[in-house]
Parts: sequence; C-alpha cells; structure tokens
Amino acid sequence: MKIRHLLLTAGVACCLLSCGTSSDNGKDSEMNRFISELMDKMTLKEKLGQLNLPSGGDMITGNVQNSPLAEAIRKEEIGGFFNVLGVEKIRELQRVAVEETRLKIPLIVGNDVIHGYKTIFPIPLAMSCSWDTAAVARAASIAAKEASADGICWTFSPMVDVARDARWGRIAEGNGEDPYLGAQLTRAYVKGYQGDNLQKSDSSVMACVKHFAFYGASESGRDYNIADMSRIRMYNEFMEPYRAAVEAGAGSVMSSFNTVDGVPATANKWLLTDLLRKEWGFDGLLVTDYNSIGEMNTHGVAPLKEASARALNAGTDMDMVSYGFLNTLEESLKEGKVTEARIDEACRRVLEMKYKLGLFDDPYKYCKPERARNELFTDENRSEARRIAAETFVLLKNEGGTLPLKREGRIALIGPMGDARNNMCGMWSATCDPERHVTPLDGLRSAAGDQAEIVYAKGSNIYYDERTEKGAVGTRPLQRGDNKALLEEALRVARGADVIVAALGEAADMSGESASRTDIRIPDAQRDLLKALKETGKPIVLLLFTGRPLDLTWEEDNLPAILNVWFAGSETGDAVADMLFGKTVPSGKLSTTFPRSVGQVPIYYSQVNTGRPDPNPDEFNRYQSNYLDERNDGLYPFGYGLSYTTFEYGEMSLNQTTMPKGGSLKVTVPLKNTGEYDGAEIVQLYIHDRYADIARPVKELKGFQRVFLKKGESRDVTFTLTAEDLKYYNSELTYGYDPGEFEVMIGPNSRDVQKKTFNAD
Ligand code: NOJ
Repeated sequence: MKIRHLLLTAGVACCLLSCGTSSDNGKDSEMNRFISELMDKMTLKEKLGQLNLPSGGDMITGNVQNSPLAEAIRKEEIGGFFNVLGVEKIRELQRVAVEETRLKIPLIVGNDVIHGYKTIFPIPLAMSCSWDTAAVARAASIAAKEASADGICWTFSPMVDVARDARWGRIAEGNGEDPYLGAQLTRAYVKGYQGDNLQKSDSSVMACVKHFAFYGASESGRDYNIADMSRIRMYNEFMEPYRAAVEAGAGSVMSSFNTVDGVPATANKWLLTDLLRKEWGFDGLLVTDYNSIGEMNTHGVAPLKEASARALNAGTDMDMVSYGFLNTLEESLKEGKVTEARIDEACRRVLEMKYKLGLFDDPYKYCKPERARNELFTDENRSEARRIAAETFVLLKNEGGTLPLKREGRIALIGPMGDARNNMCGMWSATCDPERHVTPLDGLRSAAGDQAEIVYAKGSNIYYDERTEKGAVGTRPLQRGDNKALLEEALRVARGADVIVAALGEAADMSGESASRTDIRIPDAQRDLLKALKETGKPIVLLLFTGRPLDLTWEEDNLPAILNVWFAGSETGDAVADMLFGKTVPSGKLSTTFPRSVGQVPIYYSQVNTGRPDPNPDEFNRYQSNYLDERNDGLYPFGYGLSYTTFEYGEMSLNQTTMPKGGSLKVTVPLKNTGEYDGAEIVQLYIHDRYADIARPVKELKGFQRVFLKKGESRDVTFTLTAEDLKYYNSELTYGYDPGEFEVMIGPNSRDVQKKTFNAD
C-alpha cells in the first residue's frame, strides 16, 4: 500500500475550484442590493409564487390573455413557465407579468432545447461521438440563439448522466459512459448555451444541468427506477460531469426522479445541500424534475404537503409542476415545518436567475418577433448542423472498401428509415418542423444527380406486431404496410440494384424518456429484411439509426459495412449522402461500448479488475470472472470508430520515467495518415493505477485529441499528464493520488492500446 499524496477531503478539493455562477463581487453586490430591495416589498404569497414553475403544455390556443396561465400570472402564482412555444404568445404572457401585476416581476421561460431548436443537431449521444468540444459548444450556441429568438431563456440541458446500460432509453440524451469525456463535453455545452455575457446578450440562454444525480444508473435500465450505488462509485464514476457543469458556471441544476440512498433526489439533503451547495459551492437555481415533489407520494415517502416541505428543506428552490410549494408551504411555515429564511433563499435564487438573464433590465429581451422571423433554421445554421452531423457518424465496419459508394449505377435504398421524414431528428425535438427536413432518399438523390440512380423501397415495418410498433413510433407515426408485400417489393428493388443501402434500426421514439428495451437488437421485421437482402448476394451497407448501443452481432458477422448515424437532426439526409459518397470522411468514435448481447449490460470499458479476471476470452474458464456463453468484452469498444482513411500509430514515448512531485510527464505518439483520404483521428490516452487504496479501473480516459491529417501527413501527438490526472476518491472519500507505479496507454480506441509504465513521486 502506497502512501497517499495531496490529502484533500472531497469538500476542500472542490471549494478550491472556482465554483458557481458568481460574477465579480461588484456585480454580485449590485444584484444582491437590487433583489433585497425587491424582496422587502414582497408578501409571502408573492414569494411562493416565484417558486412555482407550471407547464404551459402549449395548450394555449386563441386568446392568450384569457388562458389559465395568464390568470395564474395575474394572481402572481408563478415564477416562470415552460412548454409554451412561439414568441408572440410568450411576449403576451410576459406583458401580463410586467404590466398587470403589483411588482411587475418578469417571468423565466424554459423549454427542453436538447439538441437544437428549429435547426436540429444530432442527438446528444451522437454529439458525444464527435469528441469535439468546439462542435458541441457551437451547436449549443446555435440552439441558444434560435431558442432565445423565439422567447425562451432557459434550456433544460445539458443532460450529463453517465449511462452504461443500453436498455435505458435516456442513454440517447447524454454523453455516454465515461465521466472524463462527459465532463469535457458538459463544459462545452454550458459555455455554448450561456455564452460570455448572459446578462447583456440576447442570444444566450441559461443552462440547466440534469438530472442530479445518478439517473443514468436506473436499475435494470428501466426509466424512473432507483439508482443505488456506493459513495466511492458516485464520486469516482458518476459525479464528475455534474461537478464540471457547476465549475463551468451552469446557472441551474435539475434534480432527478430517482432515489439516492433511498430518498428521492428531490428531497435528498445530502445531495442537494451538503454536496451541491456546500462542497461544490453551487449558487444557482435548483429546480425539480416534472412533478417529482408530487411523485414522492407515489414513491411512498410523503404526501404533497410533507413532500414539499422536505424538498424545500433539502435545498430545492423551484417546483416544476406539482404546485406543492405554491399551495402547501404557507401552512407548513405556520406549523414550523419550514422556515421563512429558506423560502426567502429559494425566492432569491429565482430572482437572481432573472437578474442574471437581464430580464429586470428588459423583460422583452428574448421576445423580439423580428429575430424569430430571421434567425431560425437559417442556411448558416443548417450548414453547421450538416457539418457537425458528419463528425458524429461512426463507421463500425467497412470490409473491402465497400464505402464510400461510387456515384454510378443503381443504388437501392431500402428500409423504414430511408424516407421517414418525421423520424430523422430523434427524441426530444418537439420544436422541429419535420416537413422541412431532408431524408436519406432526398439527400442521396440530390447528391447522385444524374450520375447514379437511387431506387427506394420501405422494405418492412419497424416491428411485425402493430401494437409494439405503435409504442415504438410514439408521436411520430409511420404508415404501416403489409409485412409480406413490403418484403417482396424490397427484394424486387434490391435484385435490380448494384448495391444496397439498408436504412433501418430504431425509430426515433424508441429512445429518450420512457423508452427502455429488454431486447437491444434491431427489431424483428427489420432483422428479417436484412437477412432476406443478404440472400440477394448484393453488397449491403447498413445505415444504422439508433438512440442506444445495439447488439449488432449478426450484422457484424454478415454485412460488409455498417455506418451508424444515430439520429442526426434536420440535415440527416444531406449529411448521410455526403458520407456515403465520400464527400466527408468518418471520424466519430463511440462514447459507449456496444455489447454483444443484452446480457452483458451494464457494460463499460473502465471496469475494475476482479481478483479473477478472465484469462482467455475465447473459452469459458471456470472460477474466473466470465460467462458460460459469451465473452466479457463488447462487440465494439468505447472509443472505437473507423475511417475511410487509415492511421498508423508509432511507438509512444515518455519524456521521463518518473513524474516528479508537483511536476508533469509528457507522453508522445507519432501518428501518420497512411490512407487515401484526408481525415481526422481521435487519439486517446488512458491510465491505470497499478496499486491503490481501492481497486481502480483497468483503464481510465485522461486525455484525447482530435487530430486532422492530410493523406500522407504525420504528426507527433503529445499529452501532458499531471498529478491531477492520477487523483481519485479513496475509501475515506479523500481526493488524492497514490505515488508509485502507473500505466499509461495510447490508442485509437480503449481496446487497441500500447502501454508504458511510469512512477509518480
Ligand atoms: C421530464 C424529464 O425528465 C426532464 O429531462 C425534462 O427536462 C422535464 N420533463 C421537462 O420537460
């Protein structure tokens, strides 16, 4: 056992970082003075109103002025709202707030702007496969610009829950399985949404990091389920992205639906106050998830009144939708169950958020109809979305250079996603206008021009069973056809073609909230379609649509090429055509392991060695940690992705064999583009702590670089490691590192790495 260095408790470690959204002291004191003066004038009822966040449900039709929402505003019963779309409506509701109420306090207007507003970017899981923080920040800033042009000033994004269970549909909304990659991307989202000067800019929005915390560990991959884990695991494996968001200045945090240590996160004082506020110094707004105070009743923890008091006392500031704060806290105050000081604190945080958004300077700052007319779904935004989409595609297989396709002959596009316009954007894209989107069929036809003929057949339904399909397509129905007739047509079209592009997989609503699956293969009807297409003997490119890692064992064994395009947003069709024809070159790498079967999940690369690691993956080894009927490793490892070009890694070198105390170590690897295309490679660096206080992962990502090389070009890629990269939380939750032996690994993915060792003083 080594002697630990830099003994810092978790709390001290984090408070040394600059946390929260605090601007400089001068500005803070101006804000504090302003809010104190305002709060001096407020009645208890007005304060409680500020804590209430209802959903408009976008049900306001006709006269906004007489809507229930407008009535609630007049009665000073709300601090903001969400789910109302359209700048004119929002402007009118804001007008009611600032003209028809006693204190004229403006409202905050939220929405789930998850991966774009009108210009839709790839789903977050796809975005994370770009490993491109600049692209993520750019996409978030465009989303912010469009949303803010249409009345919205607060997005319930980024979702940063580390997720390792492909059954869980919400894996689609996050950054994958790794806390380090997740934290880097989280910072980029926060920066992109909030910009440099939220108060002055009208094109930025407040970020809301969610779901705090550990929602990604929902047991059995079933949504809203409990998430139960040790503190060690919380700190070392799940916490970092949330903490990174706070450090980056995220203005708000949303608590999660799940229980943490048995207590719903919404009312978990350790989580919300001790950790988030005190340890991390978060000084922004803490909002619940949708009706999660109300759901504490169903959880069997407390009926609404008690649940509201517990949530407030735990540190919650704003109640999304359950109306518990509005309707019960006054009574709880009289009974001494809550304090006025805590109500004041919560109210202050809501008002601070409005101040930070500049709403007290100009309540109509985000309500400029001319911006909504000119700044949504612009050519410029769309071309950015198309460019970024290409970075998120992951080439999983490409035997014999099947891809890129030549622009010649007859290409058969077959499969239910080939022309499914309303499905291109994936989950959480309620604000999009699908009729303006480009499908693979449109994209391929316009890219092929008159050089190649593109023929299309739907080929199959999503599922054979109509009821299963109904659940799967949810709000984006697809026209169903007769299973047999669809297959016959597809085979006829396929037989007359030179190559088949099979566009299939999951429908958009098969991932996201409330979309868990126990079978993570391509659905039955489409699997059979693929098998039948294979019988034609034509080369097949699987153009895979999915919101989660799938079990692609059959596809890997039987098809020459697999390009995973996830759900790529409004520009899917053109982005897909660009890549299929080689105008763009794949560079995406998986941010989550693709398992060989659902039985392996949860699966992730950074596992801890057991005392009996599997000595030989090719056979069963009794009394070793393995399965009777399956290997341990995934089909495609974390960090994996091919390109049309090839990269050669030279031998890595260290500038010294010991990292001196307080110093650093440089790790260099020569990289050469040895293929026929210019392209980008994501070089990954992992470490392993050989002996530590607790068993440590066999590999942990600690650095990555996206390197663009022209064909034939070479470059040395250098990483600098410091003690920060070696630290973790030990059995006493002390943050530090153990001097001694470490391994450092570099490679194109988490599996194919080269290794060297060094010592840390
Ligand atoms: C529930 C979801 O869990 C959360 O992510 C979302 O932001 C809210 N609903 C509001 O729509």
